[in-house]
Amino acid sequence: MRKHQRFSHRASDHFTEEHDDYDDYGHADDLGKRAKRRTRDDDEPAPARRGRLTEDARERLAQARDDAETADVPDGGDRWSNWDAADHGPQPWPEWLVTDLSAVDRELGIVKTGKEADVFLLERAVPGDDNRSCLLAAKRYRSNDHRMFHRDAGYLEGRRMRRSRENRAIENRTAFGRNLIAEQWAVAEFAALSRLWQLGAPVPYPVQRAGTELLLEFVGTDGASAPRLAQLRPEPDELLDLWRQLVDALSVLASAGLAHGDLSAFNLMVHDGRLVVIDLPQVVDVVANPRGEEFLERDVRNIAGWFTGRGLPPDVADPDELTAMLLEVARLG
Ligand SMILES: Nc1ncnc2c1ncn2[C@@H]1O[C@H](COP(=O)(O)OP(=O)(O)OP(=O)(O)O)[C@@H](O)[C@H]1O
Ligand SMILES: [Mg+2]
Repeated sequence: MRKHQRFSHRASDHFTEEHDDYDDYGHADDLGKRAKRRTRDDDEPAPARRGRLTEDARERLAQARDDAETADVPDGGDRWSNWDAADHGPQPWPEWLVTDLSAVDRELGIVKTGKEADVFLLERAVPGDDNRSCLLAAKRYRSNDHRMFHRDAGYLEGRRMRRSRENRAIENRTAFGRNLIAEQWAVAEFAALSRLWQLGAPVPYPVQRAGTELLLEFVGTDGASAPRLAQLRPEPDELLDLWRQLVDALSVLASAGLAHGDLSAFNLMVHDGRLVVIDLPQVVDVVANPRGEEFLERDVRNIAGWFTGRGLPPDVADPDELTAMLLEVARLG
């Protein structure tokens, strides 16, 4: 596989809301005009055209962009850092984060492939400077998964996008439309993580979002990701401590009016005894969403069930009590 193909979710893939005249890559007018200016013999078959660009022009454009991004990348890196072209996480940026434009991203391996997204381990480092590197989790949303299309109907209700061209593309499930849906999920998760991070919730620091790719603080040690809660069999005192951390974390979410929306022992990581909440694209507004309360109840029932299943006394992990408390916090907030 050629190097540049490994990064299929390029910063330049993301569409810009401001521009009406974009093609599927978010790039507009100039190439379209150039393509039009080329003269064509009358007997030449008309080139296949989707939108404003021919398929040929589209391919050449994508290739040129890939080449530019991966041109002369030093030290076996896969691409230049795309920090510059991405949405950034909340300020102040953590000290460990490498923001240098001369940094290079190198993929070190796959953390987990999933139905809706794949997570990779990424190193971002300044070549030649041993002190300037950090490990990141790259979560790349897929645009070819059908479960997401069912999910987006319920969760994205009320978040409908404005322009009809986008809506049509989404309804017709064109490649462009599917990519937009995937990007919507990335945008939603990045926004939720940014907000929760600022409120002090235990979530990975959201480093950046570009297109359908999120870069997150890597939760783990020496490149090995921390276990998910589901993989652990905690001792009773540790179990109680994790439950308390969970209640605190859910309280922070509730104080922002939010429920996780897909809470389970698979979407909680445990790093050095600290609980970390992940996987938040479907975060639910408890008050504004007509099914908000239902989602919150389901979250709490699921996770309380896991804890009682591991031996936590049911009167400690009481789902009704916790749901009532969180609802009150959410409504007051
Ligand atoms: N910031 C991170 N640091 C380290 N590992 C991570 C990080 N974020 C996610 N992971 C790993 O990747 C897995 C998948 O992440 P996440 O749950 O966000 O994606 P997903 O596509 O919803 O996956 P799934 O379908 O399994 O729930 C996590 O269970 C965890 O093992
Ligand atoms: Mg998950």
